[in-house]
Amino acid sequence: MDYLEIVGGKKLSGNVKISGAKNAALPIIAATILSDKEVILTNLPNVVDIRTLLKLLTMLGGDVDHQDTVAHINNGSITSTKAVYEIVSQMRASILVLGPLLARFGECEVSLPGGCAIGQRPIDLHLKALESMGAHIEIKGGYVRAEAPNGLHGAKIIFDKITVGGTENIVMAAALAKGTTTIVNAAKEPEVVQLCEMIAAAGVKIEGIGSNELTIEGTDGKPLLFKPVNIIPDRIEAGTYLCAGAITHSTITLDKVNPQHLSASIDKLESMGCTFDLKETSMTIYPAEKLKPVNLITIEYPGFPTDMQAQFMALAVMAEGESLIEERLFENRFMHVSELNRLGADIWLKGSTAAVKGVEELYGADVMATDLRASSALVLAAMVAEGTTRVRRIYHLDRGYDNLEGKLSALGANIVRKKESH
Ligand code: UD1
Repeated sequence: MDYLEIVGGKKLSGNVKISGAKNAALPIIAATILSDKEVILTNLPNVVDIRTLLKLLTMLGGDVDHQDTVAHINNGSITSTKAVYEIVSQMRASILVLGPLLARFGECEVSLPGGCAIGQRPIDLHLKALESMGAHIEIKGGYVRAEAPNGLHGAKIIFDKITVGGTENIVMAAALAKGTTTIVNAAKEPEVVQLCEMIAAAGVKIEGIGSNELTIEGTDGKPLLFKPVNIIPDRIEAGTYLCAGAITHSTITLDKVNPQHLSASIDKLESMGCTFDLKETSMTIYPAEKLKPVNLITIEYPGFPTDMQAQFMALAVMAEGESLIEERLFENRFMHVSELNRLGADIWLKGSTAAVKGVEELYGADVMATDLRASSALVLAAMVAEGTTRVRRIYHLDRGYDNLEGKLSALGANIVRKKESH
């Protein structure tokens, strides 16, 4: 198993190119199931989650040619509609094939994703919405078995909670349903917007893109013909590099980024004392003289993203004073707290709020990555810790960060990937 060895204390400088967004690419790859012709995707990030979902398409019988950042996908050859446990258990987002498989083939079986490190993460809202569109759903043997022998029909869906994956699944299902579907309380993350734009560019009428209410007129079972899609920049990867600049007190420039998608993170970094030079597709962060503490609450877009909570906690550890960080989306997304404390942080948890007292120094130690974004928080902290830190279980990082150690090394960090000797 690989681990990262980081020696703290280096300043960063230079430019880093941001990859395509994993969380945009995943639903877009799933949406290719809505077509029986070739779809070309570019700017895919080189991360494990993308390869996992492409593998799932191949297992269903799809024809996938994936090289570097480009994939040619033709799902005209799909012969199976069963997404097996071996794949779904590796990546929860595999549940995104449920809507498109059901819409195109009238039946499918998708393994239940189960819990994950950051919390329960149920899919009840996805299932309830599909049922109101005419699906019969049964849970048996660890699988969701869904059937709509006469096709799905439009419906008015009111989500009790805003769900990114749920909105994406229903948008995809609605694209091939008969009639009009309205989604009230829809998610409006940039990744949801790009999925809607891809489907709209294929001729499906969608109103309200980027708002909380979407109206979709389905094609009554007719497969879609997609235009090529260039995946949007990864706002979470970008935010992580901004934190790398801020925590090491360095000036760095991010290229191939969309600063508009990063408003919540920029806002918080400004309140901590950092300044920015924003261009259309690049941005430079200038460090704070001294980092000020921050108070933040994770919430749906355009609010502060839960996927940036751990990285900002690492920053708060190095701020002068006490920060309060409240996690509202996932009940167990604080596992990085004990690992950060191993490095010398002073963080107290009470319910869903973490009180972070800034410290003068951190000291290198062996730490364990617990989930994707928690892992990058440990890397950030390690870059300012005195001595050597080894971050283990970095398969979490590899799921979602494209060449993290390569990009950080190029900026001047002392970070290498090593293999456990046993
Ligand atoms: C997506 C992102 C993830 C991010 C999250 C919130 C992808 C692949 N993953 O995950 O990185 O952290 O959005 O921004 O895009 N919920 C239910 N029932 C459901 C569905 C969700 O109760 O059927 C709850 C969840 O437990 C959570 C909240 O709704 O508390 C939001 O979850 P959701 O937006 O669905 O997250 P994901 O789509 O899984």
